[in-house]
Amino acid sequence: MYLLGRLGDMDEAAILDWVLRCQHPNGGFGGSERNDPHMLYTLSAVQILALYDKLELVDADRVAAYVAGLQQPDGSFAGDAWGEIDTRFSYCALLCLSILGRTSLINVPKALDFISSCKNFDGGFGCTPGNESHAGQVFTCIGALALADALHLVDRDLFCWWLCERQTSGGGLNGRPEKLQDVCYSWWCLSCLSILDRLHWIDRPALTRFILDCQDEEDGGISDRPDDMADVYHTFFGIAGLSLMGYPGLQAIDPAWALPVEVVARIKRRNAASTVGAEAEVQAHAVGAAAAAES
Ligand code: FPP
Ligand code: ZN
Repeated sequence: MYLLGRLGDMDEAAILDWVLRCQHPNGGFGGSERNDPHMLYTLSAVQILALYDKLELVDADRVAAYVAGLQQPDGSFAGDAWGEIDTRFSYCALLCLSILGRTSLINVPKALDFISSCKNFDGGFGCTPGNESHAGQVFTCIGALALADALHLVDRDLFCWWLCERQTSGGGLNGRPEKLQDVCYSWWCLSCLSILDRLHWIDRPALTRFILDCQDEEDGGISDRPDDMADVYHTFFGIAGLSLMGYPGLQAIDPAWALPVEVVARIKRRNAASTVGAEAEVQAHAVGAAAAAES
């Protein structure tokens, strides 16, 4: 809705109230009320608060402690207390903590080591070491590396070759060799090509036509493939893909943060201001302590 310039069409107070009701005392969020807390929904909750510029509604230290507490000794992240490991959770942790301005709570070099260990011979990434490259996992790894300023770990040309081979004769992209084209890969693949400056390696007009063909003429939603049932998931990724290709009338989306560019700029300003504030506080404290010692 933000990308369409229509965030105001929804009931902000009701949405925020419901999101906050999904939070647990340990700081994590569940996918719905009374659902267990999980990394996936914690990121979604933080992203929603950021979209509405309402991050102050949560205790950022508590949310960040939940996320950081899921890091494992090998640098990977579990999705929740039950311990499933997946590169999706590495990205969710890095993005969540970047939004909250608290990446210092985790061991970033170890997190990067784990992501690197999931890299395959084709330049892509899987969900854990040795798993097949998959465009969804690839997005999470490239997104995490971009957030941590570590894109030097990517075999850029080899990997972008794998990515552009995801475009099928129908114009859409698939997630792995021999799979069907699917609108959501317009985001999973295109975001990586955008981060790595290789958007021009695919046929953008053909992909645009494919996404538009997936829109339901009656209800406006977008499906995975033409004539399938539209859903919110594919509607978001279709709009996000069009936004990455500069489609007219849409707000620009940041490919690594998966948030509108102007929201990311606002988050960065907020975090820079609080870092300056915290540093000034430390300095004032040190000056005060030195003056007290002198007297
Ligand atoms: C494909 O799933 C997608 C993935 C594996 C990536 C999921 C990424 C996240 C949950 C991170 C958060 C994402 C954002 C945008 C903030 P699928 O099960 O549809 O794959 P399939 O096509 O192989 O069935
Ligand atoms: Zn899909």
